[in-house]
Amino acid sequence: MKNIVILISGGGSNMAAIVNTAKRDNWAGRFGARVAAVISNKAEAKGLLFAAEHGIPTAVVSHKSFASREEFDDALAEVIDRYEQPGEPALLVLAGFMRILTPGFVNRYTGRFLNIHPSLLPAFPGLHTHQRALDAGCKVAGVTVHQVTAELDHGPILAQAVVPVLPGDTAEALAARVLTQEHLIYPRAIAELLQKQ
Ligand code: GRF
Repeated sequence: MKNIVILISGGGSNMAAIVNTAKRDNWAGRFGARVAAVISNKAEAKGLLFAAEHGIPTAVVSHKSFASREEFDDALAEVIDRYEQPGEPALLVLAGFMRILTPGFVNRYTGRFLNIHPSLLPAFPGLHTHQRALDAGCKVAGVTVHQVTAELDHGPILAQAVVPVLPGDTAEALAARVLTQEHLIYPRAIAELLQKQ
């Protein structure tokens, strides 16, 4: 069984979309894959409740418990690697995980490490993407699923979806419109990757 490990920091709606799609589309039967664990750097992340309610093992690795990024990343990797199967490396999925990871950590999972970013990369990497898109006068916005590389919000693009920017949009309204697309393209991009493996 191929294990998918999802990292979250908050609401976890993308994680929930992945879990729901995996169940609905029988990823276990079709790809031999399952969401094996949800890990958060924040104990209060609401997504942990959803995961637990769906029988998925959860863990918290708080960045506040470590003196350096390297020590946090090592502790995180130690938990992730519990879900590795011999000869079947886990797929690592960032879903609203709000920590910058060290190159050492990223290199460990290269090629099996995905992120979703709520902009049409390479435009607007980093934070406050929706407000920045509005401030720039963009007529469209969107979301990108990409392979994670050491450079923040870069790496080969696997999928994108475009939404219109509407007159009078606020960052919140635009974020909500983008999020509905996130919930479609992230599970789809993961399924495509699993199909190829
Ligand atoms: C999403 O917009 C995602 O693209 C970004 O953080 C947000 C997380 O939302 N990286 P959720 O926790 O999946 O609801």
